[in-house]
Amino acid sequence: MTPRVVLVGPPGSGKTTVARELADLLGADVRDTDEDVERTHDSTIADLFVDHGEAHFRDAEAAAVSTALAEHAGILALGGGAVLHAGTRAALDGHRVVFLDVGLSEAAKRVGLNTARPLLLGNVRSQLKTLMDERRPIYAEVAAHVVSTDALTPREVADDIVRWL
Ligand code: S3P
Repeated sequence: MTPRVVLVGPPGSGKTTVARELADLLGADVRDTDEDVERTHDSTIADLFVDHGEAHFRDAEAAAVSTALAEHAGILALGGGAVLHAGTRAALDGHRVVFLDVGLSEAAKRVGLNTARPLLLGNVRSQLKTLMDERRPIYAEVAAHVVSTDALTPREVADDIVRWL
């Protein structure tokens, strides 16, 4: 079975929220690969990173994406870094993948990086910028549709996707 829509984008792009809106509009179920990994491994993502390292997490995430693509016919929200895995990029080929694009300021706001405290959070914000700059071409490569989400509500983003479908 083919998922109707797969959402990709960096942390703060609204994948989880938009997935719920989209599911409401389409009468579909939502599956989230972050939740799948946590359930399968009976561990939080933060603990998986600390205990086993990022490479191990990425493999677990790729397996979760592959399983979800095979099993789930609704809306699928991927973890922000899932597209870093070559196997995942290949598995997404031919699916309706939507890149939820977002600017740094908006993404930082949505994930709670308050820029009024640059001494505390500036470094994290610059890490987010690096991550977004590195990944933007990869999201764009795997996506069949891009939505610029900065000025849109989650419902408006979902409406855009429904119009595109
Ligand atoms: C990650 C994003 C997270 C989660 C993990 C790694 C990333 O998902 O998969 O912490 O590398 O961007 P969200 O994009 O849902 O926050």
